[in-house]
Amino acid sequence: MEETIKAVDAKYDAQKLAFGPIYFHCIVALRDLGILEYIYKNRNGVSIKAICSDLTLTDYGVRVLLEAAQIAEVVQYLDPDTVKLTKIGFYLLKDELTNANINFVKDVCYNGTKYLTESIKNGKPEGLKVFGKWDTVYEGLSQLPEEVKKSWFEFDHFYSDDAFPFALDILFETKPKYIFDIGGNTGKWSLACCQYDPEVKIKILDLPGQLNVARKNIENHNFSHRIDFHQINLLDTFQKIPQGADVIWMSQFLDCFSNEETVQILRNVYQAANENTTIFIMEPFLDNQNYPAAEYCLAATSLYFTAIANGNSKMFNLQVMLELIKEAGLYVEEEYPLIGHSFHTILKCKKQ
Ligand SMILES: C[S@@+](CC[C@H](N)C(=O)[O-])C[C@H]1O[C@@H](n2cnc3c(N)ncnc32)[C@H](O)[C@@H]1O
Repeated sequence: MEETIKAVDAKYDAQKLAFGPIYFHCIVALRDLGILEYIYKNRNGVSIKAICSDLTLTDYGVRVLLEAAQIAEVVQYLDPDTVKLTKIGFYLLKDELTNANINFVKDVCYNGTKYLTESIKNGKPEGLKVFGKWDTVYEGLSQLPEEVKKSWFEFDHFYSDDAFPFALDILFETKPKYIFDIGGNTGKWSLACCQYDPEVKIKILDLPGQLNVARKNIENHNFSHRIDFHQINLLDTFQKIPQGADVIWMSQFLDCFSNEETVQILRNVYQAANENTTIFIMEPFLDNQNYPAAEYCLAATSLYFTAIANGNSKMFNLQVMLELIKEAGLYVEEEYPLIGHSFHTILKCKKQ
């Protein structure tokens, strides 16, 4: 397709990327100093003088932020001393997706992403060293600083939570008695399953740090009699997933691994399954989205995997995942695109 963008616009867009990190922090400052909220509450426009006096900020501080915000189309000047919020400003302040992304970028990604070039060269998450000495972020997740952990979990949960109600209906159509939740993390999904069905039992499989957190959560919700735990590192091919599940559930899990590792894990799933076991894979596929904003978020999330999380995974294209599933000896019985409600597609699989 031929490019239609004019040179002058292309040059402007290039500057948006060049100064992107500075504008990002300008937005964070405007939000965290309460300036966006203050302007939002005074919908018809508010004077800079009022912002300064009510929020105890200097005229210089407020003006330097707002001048950049105007250029980024976050605020609009009604006259040289009066501003109002734009639609973009509204989303930055109030939209849950946008705030989960901002906090994730600020707390989890920002410092480490400067090691992206080295990460690509070395095939390792070189940015992870800003937090600790681990091979992958998952080994250190439970030990991250509180603020970083909070932003990581809010980001992770934001993306999966929207899919939960639809995913529960789809999973329970198969009437499972025993579900294995691989990469079950804090146990949120397992708890949702127990609340959905009064009989079902669950096994959460994950790394030790996450299992400890999940165990506490499950105890606090009084579901310890229905949920058990299995410590496993699925990068170690000697560690086998136990047999006995009616359903094996993997949500936002396989995107933590390279294509080769994914096939190995799916082969491990294969040996744990019998011909009646249903295997569900729920992923936000890069090429199966309705909105440009969704693709934009997912492609950036892939770079977080590169620089911070593991150095070798990314968001899958649906076609690639279908090939990996086949390579592991499984087949897709049904595809459920939840697009429109969430970013995800669920693949219902069986043994070939
Ligand atoms: C992105 S989270 C997904 C959490 C949850 N399933 C969801 O949908 O929100 C990935 C989970 O996989 C686990 N995980 C990552 N690498 C793993 C490994 N090598 N072995 C076992 N679990 C692993 C992480 O600890 C984490 O709980």
